[in-house]
Amino acid sequence: MSNRENFSSTFGIIAAAAGSAVGLGNIWRFPYVAGENGGGAFLLIYIFIVLILGIPLLISEMMIGRRAQANVIGSFKKLGPKSSIIIGIIGLLAAFIILSFYSTVGGWTIHYIYASISGEVFKLDYQQYFTNFKDKSFLPLLWQVIFLIMTAIIILGGVKKGIENCSKVLMPLLILMLIILMIRAVTLPGSKSGIDFFIKPDFSKVTGKTFLAAMGQAFFSLSIGMGAMLTYGSYIKKDQNLTFIGFSITIADTLIAILAGFVIFPTLFSFNVAPNQGPGLIFVTLPAIFDQMPWGAGFSTLFFILLLIASLTSSISLLEVIVAVLKEELKWSRTLSTIITTILVMCLGVFTTLSWNTFQNLFITTAQGNCMYIFDICDYFSSNILLPLGGFLIMLYVGWYLKKDVFYEELSAGVNNKFTLSLRSMIFFIVKYIAPLVIILVFLNGLGII
Ligand code: PHE
Repeated sequence: MSNRENFSSTFGIIAAAAGSAVGLGNIWRFPYVAGENGGGAFLLIYIFIVLILGIPLLISEMMIGRRAQANVIGSFKKLGPKSSIIIGIIGLLAAFIILSFYSTVGGWTIHYIYASISGEVFKLDYQQYFTNFKDKSFLPLLWQVIFLIMTAIIILGGVKKGIENCSKVLMPLLILMLIILMIRAVTLPGSKSGIDFFIKPDFSKVTGKTFLAAMGQAFFSLSIGMGAMLTYGSYIKKDQNLTFIGFSITIADTLIAILAGFVIFPTLFSFNVAPNQGPGLIFVTLPAIFDQMPWGAGFSTLFFILLLIASLTSSISLLEVIVAVLKEELKWSRTLSTIITTILVMCLGVFTTLSWNTFQNLFITTAQGNCMYIFDICDYFSSNILLPLGGFLIMLYVGWYLKKDVFYEELSAGVNNKFTLSLRSMIFFIVKYIAPLVIILVFLNGLGII
């Protein structure tokens, strides 16, 4: 065997992979996308997509990585055919783009730690405060650089030490915090209509775009379609049960997103804020709840610290995708690979962070008349186009190229219970036929082609 690093235990793998999945996607992105797409109906479609596409793709990615014992490019090189390397290239591109705007929001999170401690976030109108801050140039960039440096430092520590240790402690704390916040949120006056908005589906608002948004959100939130789970899969030993790991991560990730919904929507409605705020949503709602709680500033500080850690365990998985390629394919050292990648991401990151400042004239207007700035374009293009495209190709690859025997072999390794084994045929059938078809339909429908 090679001398690649490995995760040491099932719990360690789940913590690391769930660490990748759980992050800004659940707490920042899910509520804002759900809010823009009608709430309850979006939630149902989201859950459907997570089940039908999320779990099978997550498992497929991990099995490719574990089988090949290599990064996103190396895996396809090893398992062949040559043309499949394109999947790795799409993954690298997605990792770059996502990191660039992910670090913008990671930076906002750091700013909110600072603003909670200083108390300035509670002084003005929350919405005004966020807009003023986001539209600045120096401060958001500074926080973004700090966020990227933190990500790079963890990656320099290597997979086992860095990633696993960090994820293990955080997850339980974050969940506890969200539960406390949810209790406060649902007991706010007027919160009932927020709960209704989130759980009572209104199908009259569902369009092809709702499905596309739900698919993009599911892929983003589960870190699938671009090789993050493939890369982590390559650090998983042969005695581990991939089916179990896949289900655990998906369930944890989805529950946390739903929990975040129960924090954000009741609060929004209680404070009469419109749910379609876009990417600033949590930054204008959460301070409102904290302000209504005893020790609000303390809770706020703690919450944003936890959110920062959750986003770091995700951003490291994005950076690791690229670093693993440079290290293994180009034989660069981990240090050099990390430094070069971080600098490149920062170059693109300047554009996303200054979307509302220096580059405010660069936007496109959607059919609904909304402006999409560089930030929004990166967010939309990577989540709604690149990830589903990558996921589509990965499933075709597993279903039609690697085929059943390989799939069964990988899903049987480390498994000794009959029930899990019996799931293999169903999952394979979904990977081979159903999932690619669903992705095509959602694509064509969402982009207005059918
Ligand atoms: N899933 C992460 C989150 O929810 C983001 C991410 C996307 C990480 C894609 C890796 C790959 O925050």
